[in-house]
Amino acid sequence: METIDWKNLGFGYMKTDYNIRAYFRNGKWEEPTLTQDETITMSMAAAGLHYGQECFEGLKAFRGKDGKVRIFRVDENARRMIRTAEYTCMAPPPLELFVEMVKEAVRKNERFVPPYGTGASLYIRPLLFGTGIQIGVKPADEYLLIVFVMPVGPYYKEGFKPIRVIVDRKHDRAAPRGTGHVKVGGNYAASLLSGEKGKYKGYPSVLYLDACEKKYIDECGAANFFAIRAGSYITPDSPSVLPSITNMSLRQLAQDMGLKVENRKVPLDEVPTFEEVGCCGTAAVISPIGSIYDPETEETYTFGDEPGPWSVKLYEALRGIQSGDLPDPHGWVTVL
Ligand SMILES: Cc1ncc(COP(=O)(O)O)c(C=O)c1O
Repeated sequence: METIDWKNLGFGYMKTDYNIRAYFRNGKWEEPTLTQDETITMSMAAAGLHYGQECFEGLKAFRGKDGKVRIFRVDENARRMIRTAEYTCMAPPPLELFVEMVKEAVRKNERFVPPYGTGASLYIRPLLFGTGIQIGVKPADEYLLIVFVMPVGPYYKEGFKPIRVIVDRKHDRAAPRGTGHVKVGGNYAASLLSGEKGKYKGYPSVLYLDACEKKYIDECGAANFFAIRAGSYITPDSPSVLPSITNMSLRQLAQDMGLKVENRKVPLDEVPTFEEVGCCGTAAVISPIGSIYDPETEETYTFGDEPGPWSVKLYEALRGIQSGDLPDPHGWVTVL
C-alpha cells in the first residue's frame, strides 16, 4: 500500500479505492453500485455533454483526535444538489440516497481520510449529469450520480494569510434570474476567464458585482463574501449568489458569539467602512481578504496583513466542530 505525504498534499485529484454510482433510468433511481473504475462509458450524444445538464457538490470529512471520521453537513449538500437538479430539469436524487452514497464512499475509502493534526481532510465530490441521449434541446431521461473522494491538503500551508482581491467589472459569473444560486458546471465555465485574468494581474481571487447594476457585492471567486463591522456579520443577499453551507454555518456561529447577522444587499461603496472582510467556502472555511482593488476608481482598500480577530474566532470555531475538538451544538456533523 502506497504511503501518502499528508502534510504536503495539495488540492487535486487522486485515485482512491472506490467510487459509488447510481443511475436514474426508466423513471426511477436504481441501487447504487461500488466500482474501482475511474472512467465512465456513455454516449457522445449524452445531454450532460451538450446542454449543460450537469452539477456537482463539494464537502469534506475529517479525522478527529478520537480517530473517528466526521462528515460536515452532508444533508445540506444533498438539499443543494436537489435544488440544482430541480432548477435544471434533472432527476433530483432523494436526500437519503445522496447521504448514503456519500457515507459509503467515505467508508470504503477510509484509509484515505488524513490523520488528525495534519490539517488535511477527505474532499468528497458528488457529481450528477444527464447520460440520456438527447440531441433536441430538452431534458434527458437518464442521469448518473457518482460520488468520489480524494484526500486534500490544508488550505493554509503557510498559515492563515489574507489574500489580494480585484473587483471585476468586465465579467459576470451569473445573472439575477440565471443559474448563480445553483451549483451547475456552467457557472464555473463562465468564471474561468475572469479568474485567469485576475491571477495574471496578481490577484488570487476576483470580486463579482451584481450583474444588473454593478453596485452590490455578489461573490468572491468561488466563495461567498462576508464583512465584519461594529459587532455585525454582514453578507450579501443576492439571487445570483450560491448559498454557501460554510456561510450558513458562519452566520449561525456569529450569532452564537453575539454578533448581529445582516444578510442583505451590500453596496461596494460600503467596503471602506468594514473592519474585516473575507470569503468563505468548503475549501478554506475562511480566506481573509487583505486588500480589494477597484480598477475603475483605481482605489485599493486595505485591511492589513493579518486576519482580523473575528475571522480567526469564526474560523477556529468552525474547524473545531468539523474535527470534533469542539462540541457540535447544532448537529452539523455525521460521525461514521
Ligand atoms: C460559487 C461558489 N460560491 C460559494 C461557495 C461556497 O460554498 P460552500 O460553503 O457550500 O462550499 C462555492 C463552493 O462550493 C462556490 O463554488
